[in-house]
Amino acid sequence: MAAPLIALLLLTFFHAASVLASANSDFDVRRHLSTVTRYHVAKEISDNSYIPSNIPDQCKPIHLNLVARHGTRAPTKKKMKLLDALGTRLEVLLGNVKEKKSGALPPWLRGWKSPWTGKHKGGELIGLGESELYELGIRVREKFPQLFHEDYHPDIYPIRATQVSRASASAVAFGMGLFSDRGNLGPGHHRAFAVISESRASDIMLRFHDCCQNYKAFRKSQEPSVDKLKEPILDEITKELVKRWGLSFTRQDVSSLWFLCKQEAALLNKTDQACALFSPSEVGLLEWADDLEVFIVKGYGNSLNYRMGVPLLGDVIQSMEQAIKAKEDGLVPGSYEMAKLRFAHAETLLPFSCLIGLFLDGRDFDKILREEPLQLPPKPPQTRIWRGSTVAPFAGNNMLVLYSCSANNNTSKYFVQVLHNEHPTRIAGCGDSDFCPFEVFKEKIAAPHLKHNYNDLCSTESLPTTPANKLWQILGWFFPANTSGTQKDEL
Ligand SMILES: *[C@@H]1O[C@H](CO)[C@@H](O)[C@H](O)[C@H]1NC(C)=O
Ligand SMILES: *[C@@H]1O[C@H](CO)[C@@H](O)[C@H](O)[C@H]1NC(C)=O
Ligand SMILES: *[C@@H]1O[C@H](CO)[C@@H](O)[C@H](O)[C@H]1NC(C)=O
Ligand SMILES: *[C@@H]1O[C@H](CO)[C@@H](O)[C@H](O)[C@H]1NC(C)=O
Repeated sequence: MAAPLIALLLLTFFHAASVLASANSDFDVRRHLSTVTRYHVAKEISDNSYIPSNIPDQCKPIHLNLVARHGTRAPTKKKMKLLDALGTRLEVLLGNVKEKKSGALPPWLRGWKSPWTGKHKGGELIGLGESELYELGIRVREKFPQLFHEDYHPDIYPIRATQVSRASASAVAFGMGLFSDRGNLGPGHHRAFAVISESRASDIMLRFHDCCQNYKAFRKSQEPSVDKLKEPILDEITKELVKRWGLSFTRQDVSSLWFLCKQEAALLNKTDQACALFSPSEVGLLEWADDLEVFIVKGYGNSLNYRMGVPLLGDVIQSMEQAIKAKEDGLVPGSYEMAKLRFAHAETLLPFSCLIGLFLDGRDFDKILREEPLQLPPKPPQTRIWRGSTVAPFAGNNMLVLYSCSANNNTSKYFVQVLHNEHPTRIAGCGDSDFCPFEVFKEKIAAPHLKHNYNDLCSTESLPTTPANKLWQILGWFFPANTSGTQKDEL
């Protein structure tokens, strides 16, 4: 009787030990949090095998377009409630375990309360997120001194953010870095600058996802199939966790614990609690499940996901053309726009990255042009290009730098360089180069998207064509829809 019991205990001990041991090895869960990954971590995950183009000396940057996601933020109110519920649930699960048998259980589980319990508001940019954007602002100025030596003027450096506070606060943090030491305010010699937001209801430039009725319907329609896709992954891991920890976790519990792991690791830099319940390969599967969802409802999974971003893409192309015109007309510096800086959401950055063809191989680019759907990112341990941790971490960003190259040659005079999270990035639509002739960028990459019209894609209510629509829009301004509880959280 005793021998099998000891064997079982030894086995349990051994198993738990191997999980914990792996937490100390090369595997760092902080790099595997999909869109909850912190920027400084994401910035380190770059494709080291890719050697960026050498930019010829006669090429000078003349304009910069930035599209950035807000920085690290607190959990939303809805998610704080989910964590409160997890606390109650753990109490029940542990209540069913005899004190003596609970030796192998991580001590933190007993009496655990969400660190966000008692907080009344959520979703805001936190201090860590402020630093991400502030430091990015400083680095951008250092990297492109030619673009940022002019005195600040809102027409030279327009800053746009969505009306959501974590995005506009991100714009402010970035501007504080970008224009530090350029003003008279306080010991940091800061200066004031303008951040402009459209109303949520009509922000088709940065919140196109929210104004696009067809997209919202599509996203809702995908919920059951996305859940179905995730179920077997969660079930597999649930079975393992039940065996490993001897608690009768459900699929929902495991999903909540994974959410907790991401929050602890990203916001609290704590990887030895919820995250340590999972083995590295389980983390890899959960990350993949998150990435699949992002792919299907915000990425290459459906052309509407990114096509609805045509107003933003059109605006970027237009600002480049204006910069080229200013250059050709020989305008004096300080009389035209040098950079356009935009701060928004994962729902903005992801589609924009798709529109310019990032994270694609050449064959996939041709499929997109033929409007064929792409394969889902393959299951680990197979590798994939599409990773939330790279594509849209907190403060993730694309910078499109326009270069003018003096023409003692008959090649194209203007080039676009794409920096993703500050790294030069290959563009599938431009022969996998990261330094793309402007004409190629415009005609081969942007034009196929720009022939689509936002209103036709979305049958939008924000640009009304009938009196009835107009009435609804006006009513909407006065009585914003109560979407809490019905809408998915924005990333
Ligand atoms: C996070 O924790 C790790 C140890 O797990 C430590 O090396 C690192 O400095 C911490 N980072 C921050 C920002 O506190
Ligand atoms: C013309 O461009 C090519 C590459 O595009 C370069 O190797 C060559 O040096 C240029 N010629 C002159 C005269 O600048
Ligand atoms: C550009 O130069 C190439 C040779 O380097 C030549 O074949 C071509 O005709 C030239 N194009 C123009 C428009 O001058
Ligand atoms: C919005 O709806 C939720 C439930 O869907 C409700 O709990 C909440 O009180 C409502 N808020 C307002 C301001 O009406």
